[in-house]
Amino acid sequence: MTMDRVIMAQQGAPDVMQFETLELPDPGEGEVQIRQKAIGLNYMDVYQRSGHYPMPLPSPLGLEAAGEITGLGKGVAGLAVGDRVVYGGVLGAYATTRNAPAARVLKIPDGISDDVAAASLMKGMTAEYLLERTYKVKPGEKVLFFAASGGVGQIAGQWGKHLGAEMIGVTSGADNCGRALQMGYSHAIDRNSEDIAERVKEITGGAGVPVVYDSIGKATFETSIECLATYGMFVSFGATTGEAPAVAPSLLQHAGSLYFTRPTLANYVGPRADLEHSSARVFRMNLDGHVTVNINQRRPLSEVAAAHAELEAGSTTGSTIFVP
Ligand SMILES: NC(=O)c1ccc[n+]([C@@H]2O[C@H](COP(=O)([O-])OP(=O)(O)OC[C@H]3O[C@@H](n4cnc5c(N)ncnc54)[C@H](OP(=O)(O)O)[C@@H]3O)[C@@H](O)[C@H]2O)c1
Repeated sequence: MTMDRVIMAQQGAPDVMQFETLELPDPGEGEVQIRQKAIGLNYMDVYQRSGHYPMPLPSPLGLEAAGEITGLGKGVAGLAVGDRVVYGGVLGAYATTRNAPAARVLKIPDGISDDVAAASLMKGMTAEYLLERTYKVKPGEKVLFFAASGGVGQIAGQWGKHLGAEMIGVTSGADNCGRALQMGYSHAIDRNSEDIAERVKEITGGAGVPVVYDSIGKATFETSIECLATYGMFVSFGATTGEAPAVAPSLLQHAGSLYFTRPTLANYVGPRADLEHSSARVFRMNLDGHVTVNINQRRPLSEVAAAHAELEAGSTTGSTIFVP
C-alpha cells in the first residue's frame, strides 16, 4: 500500500510543508495500520511547523486522526481489522494511511463520527484535564478562559458550564462573542474593544476569578495576573503570541499568593489509564449532548498550508479537519 503524507525538510512558514508518496511498510510489532478518514488540526501543529518547538528534521507533521484499522502488527490485543479508531499525539497524522502504536489508539464509540472524533479528541482531552484535573472547577465559580470561540475554547465553555461554573470567555469581535455565548459562556469579552481586567472586575464584584486558563501567552500574561483573585491559579497552557515570560516568585506573592502552572496534554494522558479516562470523558460529554463540536473548517489535506495560515491569523472558529 502507498501513503501520501506531508513532510518538512526545515521549519518555517506554511510552505515548508511538502507532499511525498511512499510505500507504507507492514505494521511493526505493537502497531496498527490505519486508513485515515479525518485528520485534526491543532495549534501544536503550528508550533512544530514554525520552529516554536524544535523538531528533528526532516519530519512528518500532524498529531491527530481518525480512520479504520486495515492491518495489525504482532502483539496487538483488543483491536481488530475494521475497527473505527482515533488517536492523538502521534506525529505523522497528515497522511492518507499510516502505522501507529496501538498503545495510543482508541476505539471510537458508536454515535460519534470519524470527523467529530478527529475534530475533538485532543481538544476535548485538553478541556477535560484543564477543568477537571489541573484546577478542579467547582459549581458556582467564575472561570476565565481565553480564545473562547476557538477549537479548545468552544469545548471548554460547554464543559465548564456543565460542571456548574460561570464561564467568562475572551475572544475577538462581536461575531465571536456571539458564538462564545452559544458555547457555554455566560459572559463574552471582546479583546479588540474592551479592557479585559476591568470587565472581569465588574463581573466578579471586584474580587477577580479563582482560575484563569490562558493559551495566548506573552500578550496576555499581565492581564491574566490582574484578573486573578487572592490564592488564584494561573494556568498558562499555550503560546499563541509566544511563551509567557519567566515568572518571579515575588510577583506571585504580591499579586495575591497566586499559583502558576504550565501544563501539557502529553503528561496528563501519558499513562494509558489516563488516556482512557480522559478520552472516555470526552466521548461521554459528546454522546450525552453536553458538548457539541463545531467543525467550521473542512479542507482537503492538499490545502494544509492555507489552513495553517488561517489558524495562525486567528481567523478560524471551532475545529478544523482535513479530509485525506
Ligand atoms: N497545553 C496543552 O496541553 C494544550 C493542548 C491543546 C491546545 N493548547 C493550546 O490551546 C490554544 C488553542 O488551541 P486551538 O487548537 O483550539 O486553537 P484556536 O483556539 O482555535 O486558535 C487560536 C485562537 O487564539 C486566539 N488569539 C488570541 N490572540 C491571538 C493573536 N494575537 N493572534 C492569533 N490568534 C490569537 C484567536 O481567537 P480569538 O480571536 O477568538 O481570541 C484564535 O482563534 C493554543 O494556544 C494551543 O497551543 C494547549
